[in-house]
Amino acid sequence: MAIPRETVEQILQTARIEEVVGEFVTLKKSGARYLGLCPFHNEKTPSFTVSPTHNIYKCFGCGKVGDPAKFLMEYEHYTFPEALRYLAKKYNITIEEEQPTPEELMQRDLREKMFNINEFADKYFVDTLWNTEEGRTIGLEYFRERGYLNPIIEKFHLGYNPDSAHWDAFTEHAKKNGYSEELLEQIGLSIKGSKGLYDRYHGRVMFPIHSLTGRVIGFGGRILVNDKKSPKYQNSPESEIYDKKQTLYGIYFAKNAIAKQDECILVEGYFDVLRMHQIGIENVVASSGTSLTMEQIRLVKRYTKNITMLYDGDAAGIHAALRGTDMILSEGMNVRVVVLPPEHDPDTFAKEFSVEYVSNYLKENAKDFIRFKTELLLKDAENDPIKRGQVIRDIVETISVIPDSIFRITYVKECSRLLDMPEQTLTNELNKILRAKLKKTLGIDDNVVPETDTTTVSPKQEETVEDQLPAGYYQERELVKLLLMYGKEMITDERLDENGEKVYEQVSVAQLIVDDLKMDDFLFTNVVNRKIFDIFDQAIDAGYIPDDQVFVSHEDETIAQLAADLLSTPYKLDQWEKYGIFVKREEDVLRAMVLSSLYRYKDLIIEERRKAVEEELKAATDPADQFILLKQKMGLDALRKQINKELGIVIAK
Ligand code: CTP
Ligand code: MN
Repeated sequence: MAIPRETVEQILQTARIEEVVGEFVTLKKSGARYLGLCPFHNEKTPSFTVSPTHNIYKCFGCGKVGDPAKFLMEYEHYTFPEALRYLAKKYNITIEEEQPTPEELMQRDLREKMFNINEFADKYFVDTLWNTEEGRTIGLEYFRERGYLNPIIEKFHLGYNPDSAHWDAFTEHAKKNGYSEELLEQIGLSIKGSKGLYDRYHGRVMFPIHSLTGRVIGFGGRILVNDKKSPKYQNSPESEIYDKKQTLYGIYFAKNAIAKQDECILVEGYFDVLRMHQIGIENVVASSGTSLTMEQIRLVKRYTKNITMLYDGDAAGIHAALRGTDMILSEGMNVRVVVLPPEHDPDTFAKEFSVEYVSNYLKENAKDFIRFKTELLLKDAENDPIKRGQVIRDIVETISVIPDSIFRITYVKECSRLLDMPEQTLTNELNKILRAKLKKTLGIDDNVVPETDTTTVSPKQEETVEDQLPAGYYQERELVKLLLMYGKEMITDERLDENGEKVYEQVSVAQLIVDDLKMDDFLFTNVVNRKIFDIFDQAIDAGYIPDDQVFVSHEDETIAQLAADLLSTPYKLDQWEKYGIFVKREEDVLRAMVLSSLYRYKDLIIEERRKAVEEELKAATDPADQFILLKQKMGLDALRKQINKELGIVIAK
């Protein structure tokens, strides 16, 4: 549900950085600032500063910087709306949510009922496992047989669904406790047969599947007998509370370890997760057999950017790993692959060897994806030149999905070594693919760089906040961000001189943006954006381009906050780079970004002016006024056409 924009502003203005950070980090006053040990990286001497004047934190060790909301997003892994809600509560600010509709209320009610029945079932399965004869001799014995100990069985709430004569032990128990047949069927705990409802999981050991916050959203049940007609695992169907593509088995128990170790180990099955936890490796989650989804990857990304895929050593496992790597890379994350000996899965492997051996094996056998893929594909291609060509294209294609240019270059180097190919050949191939992709992105999307905070914010929720910002806000902010991040970068500007000849000149991004906007008298409407623009303008007049530090530590705290925000919140734009460093061949990308941002901004402003003129024209009665307004409107139309033409040229490049 959306938080009204005024409330968002009120929350952000009220929150005090030292109070928010102070709840998590011990701070000591030092002059106008506070100092503490950075919660984001390991350090012995404090380099984490909190500035009440600027209302931001900044770590001079790891570079993390931001405002109170940002801190909560980084530290607590909240989404932006979640951070706002936290702050609102802390500062007693009421969020007047829009009234839910009757359908929304019903939906909420149904979800509550579903959580409720799952919790009931979870208790029943656990109780059956430990406290009934059948549960102990069959269910618990099965876990024991496989070498699972009580603490892990308890921690993961493993259970057992009895195998009664009519397969309806649980269903009957639930009905007796007032749960409706309809709900039982809807949530998938029971199935409707010709003789009525029966237990989906009869005679199976049970794995509850927990949400991020630890609520039971579904179940998996493993069969204990050999029966070719029944699948090995039965899983809950999707429901209002269970969305498979958004779920990772074990995330609730693993999230802290993932964040702490800054790595997530991805396995395939329920038992793989259990075993790893049992031997003490807790940063492990499972995709549960299905192929990895973008949503699952983003879920991990809330906690770490490093994923290690630990897949079965068989062909199917290797294939699954290959499919996953490109998706992970395209999210700007790092992916490594560990392949186990062919006869093992993580469960059997970690059962056979000690924790030291397993950790060591992981360390020594983790291959970055490029090595993994290259070696694998080359084995297939051997000396067939046509196949080799295909391998090269394949791998370069994979490199092209990496958003970060620095990493792309590193991988091209490594790839060139592994394939014994000149780097330049690979780079050329890569650039071809990148250009095609950029064209596609710019052509399809309305905004040149559609905003999604890919680190922590779920895009859906972010939209509801963003939607309420005034028109042009986003475009302005995008230009400010370009100024801050790439202001000093040089790009080639192409202009027509008085004789209509093309001239090329090297200009800084800052100069280009400032000149272009001033020329047409397009000045930012947002006060803070305008302040930053003016600082650039004056500095350029004085012959230099200000450093981003000037803004982040600016005494005007609205400037500092915006700068910290913009510099620390990655947008899609960051997929083209990360450290503000551009290599030469990406100058074109930057140029396209800058120009299309400019054009789109101007287009928007003109459209607004045109609308205003149109309104005035409708109201005007004096023919002289009408004439002037009409002229204005025509002028604006022409300008708009011209801009769109230029935009077309940039995109087509
Ligand atoms: N899976 C499933 N349905 C199946 C088979 C598998 O949902 N019919 C999912 C389960 O989440 C399972 C994972 O895929 O844990 C991996 O499958 P598999 O390797 O076959 O099972 P294991 O986890 O190794 O289970 P076990 O060790 O008990 O054989
Ligand atoms: Mn297994």
